[in-house]
Amino acid sequence: MRRMSAFLGGAPARDLLGRRLHDLRISVTDRCNFRCVYCMPAEIFGSDFAFVPRAELLAYEESARLARIFVSLGVEKVRITGGEPLVRRDLPAFVAMLAAIPGIVDLTLTTNGAALRHLAAPLAEAGLRRVTVSLDSLDPEIFGRMNGVGFPVSRVIEGIDAARAVGLDPIKINTVVRRGLNDASILPMARWARETGLTVRFIEYMDVGNANGWRLDDVVPAAEIVETIGREFPVEPVAPAYRGEVADRWRYLDGAGEFGVIASVTQPFCGDCSRARISAVGELYTCLFATNGHDLRSLLRGGASDDEIRRSVEAVWGSRVDRYSEMRSDETEGLPRVEMFAIGG
Ligand code: GTP
Ligand code: 5AD
Ligand code: SF4
Ligand code: SF4
Repeated sequence: MRRMSAFLGGAPARDLLGRRLHDLRISVTDRCNFRCVYCMPAEIFGSDFAFVPRAELLAYEESARLARIFVSLGVEKVRITGGEPLVRRDLPAFVAMLAAIPGIVDLTLTTNGAALRHLAAPLAEAGLRRVTVSLDSLDPEIFGRMNGVGFPVSRVIEGIDAARAVGLDPIKINTVVRRGLNDASILPMARWARETGLTVRFIEYMDVGNANGWRLDDVVPAAEIVETIGREFPVEPVAPAYRGEVADRWRYLDGAGEFGVIASVTQPFCGDCSRARISAVGELYTCLFATNGHDLRSLLRGGASDDEIRRSVEAVWGSRVDRYSEMRSDETEGLPRVEMFAIGG
């Protein structure tokens, strides 16, 4: 099934592999109140770690201006990310700015859920439609170890409940699986999501950034995750909802919903990759595994017109050939890569 396009502009931007610019992920901060082992290991990102100073962050108005420009190039889906986006002050004000942009048909954010109890209502009021919450285990001890700060799982669940109560639906749950840490949590997570009517997506642990000490042995392949769940609850594959969908979807034969697997390591999906990312300081990244971004903040702050910025983005996207996950090999090993918390996953 192909997703209907509401894009009303001219021809959407395409890269050198013919891939359309369709999704924009905007990071609003590199800070986070968690220290997930696969993203910001606490030993490296201690209390003295220097995050980006406030003045360097794009103002919400600047990010919203970029969003409008990206929409004119074909973007229809916008996701707010971090670090942890909910730690940035006045986030609902930014949501309201994005919600007012015609042409954005899907507006969402990815959060660790810690502050959702308090912020779900104001975010929904500002025009947010749905949320994705990261949650790696329901076991307090395992979850506390994975989030690196002993954060209680009960508070995240309260956040999810708050999001539901204000209609931020559908809620998706992202679960990163790391061998030896939370592989025993796969089945309990699947069972809980079935019972609560949530869609969980299990993500293969990726070699994003250079800080997490990634090893292939720590990856639990998506096929193994599907098998683990399928043994208990029989499943069948579901066709993608739209071209470029990141998750492979599986439906329970008993009708109790579905779950997804994001197999970036074992079954890369670069062929349809339509995602651009803007870091909190206004760099445009055309791949999650890129070494460098393209500085848009200098254009924003240097008096460039919308048209000039549009042409610059178009030139970057138009020369894009990224397909890191498909190439993942000796060739790419050891290259410096941007950290996940800087571009929001
Ligand atoms: P939905 O529209 O809600 O399905 O969202 P989505 O498909 O954009 O997925 P989401 O942003 O929740 O992505 C889930 C996770 O998949 C991310 O946090 C990343 O870990 C991973 N992911 C998303 N996009 C990419 C990508 O372009 N490349 C790779 N390698 N991983 C990705
Ligand atoms: N591998 C896979 N997923 C990751 N995330 C963060 N780091 C990694 C990694 N190394 C996920 C988080 C969150 C999203 C932003 O990205 O769990 O759901
Ligand atoms: Fe924070 Fe998300 Fe990274 Fe975890 S994965 S440390 S919640 S930014
Ligand atoms: Fe897109 Fe890069 Fe991910 Fe491939 S590795 S799907 S090109 S972001």
